[in-house]
Amino acid sequence: MSARKDRFALVAHGGAGAPGPAAERPERRHGMVAALRLGGLVLRRGGTALEAVAATVAALEDHPLFNAGYGSLLNSEGSVEMDASLMVAEPIDETLDADAHRNHHHELEYRVSAGAVAAISRVRNPILLAREVMDRSPHILMVGAGAERFARGAGLTMVKPDEMISERARERWRIRQAQRLAEAEDADGHGTVGAVAIDVRGALAAATSTGGVPGKLYGRVGDSAIIGAGTFAHKYGAASATGQGEAIIVTALCREATMAMAEATPRRVAQEAIEELIASTSAEAGIILVDRKARMGYAHNAATMQVGTYDSVRGLQHLWLEPIRKRQRAVIGVAP
Ligand code: GLY
Repeated sequence: MSARKDRFALVAHGGAGAPGPAAERPERRHGMVAALRLGGLVLRRGGTALEAVAATVAALEDHPLFNAGYGSLLNSEGSVEMDASLMVAEPIDETLDADAHRNHHHELEYRVSAGAVAAISRVRNPILLAREVMDRSPHILMVGAGAERFARGAGLTMVKPDEMISERARERWRIRQAQRLAEAEDADGHGTVGAVAIDVRGALAAATSTGGVPGKLYGRVGDSAIIGAGTFAHKYGAASATGQGEAIIVTALCREATMAMAEATPRRVAQEAIEELIASTSAEAGIILVDRKARMGYAHNAATMQVGTYDSVRGLQHLWLEPIRKRQRAVIGVAP
């Protein structure tokens, strides 16, 4: 069963990881709320889930306190390399696709599309480039210089690589280079951003964007560029992840969680997904979910995770999912 016709929902995250400096929290909250308002307005006005997640993530990319777009942390060489992806599952109009139904024996219910970019340094909003890859190329994933040339052709805002480096990110990198690795890690957390949404037509979308993990090598690509790992959408729901990318890739975290929503609520699926990730990798991660009934769920096992929701019933909510004492447990949350 799908959502009631007038229902929409949007969930966003600002990363799971270390809490970061307390002085930055009010501004991070402000950035998340502003991004949710933007995405929520798209949905309230009847816009698509894809537009809503792209607008939400692009706003978070523009904010210097999130580890995505401008504000991305730096790699081992001191430069920015960003990853992003998005995916949408759109219900197929049965009247338009009557022939398709007649000519195929399998059920055609939803059409899925995806786009992703990795290791890019010259594009202001990587999530908008992922969307261009999805809409205007025959491919799903483009990387590096080729992706940047494609971005130029698509008319996206281009920058010099140094223009993507915030003073904060440079300072964190200097600390790391000075061998105070522990402090640098603590201050950085993970800070990947992402959003999932369902619109009033029942389309489901997910988007994720990141500057990567602290200490990453030049050329490393994480889960946020990998469909099925950091981002996934299908007829059962949509998912976006944050945390240690290598663990999220090997567990295909977002695809597993999305498909599990066929049988269980987002709240339960989120909790089980993080518990399974802990069992198989001991890594730190978080996930946000929305299902086709517009139910939302999220879970993480990091020190904290910033989450916001905006839905047609309850409006906007912002949460710092509290630090947990025992690392081997998932903190869960749900908005009914
Ligand atoms: N989850 C972000 C990364 O590993 O790059």
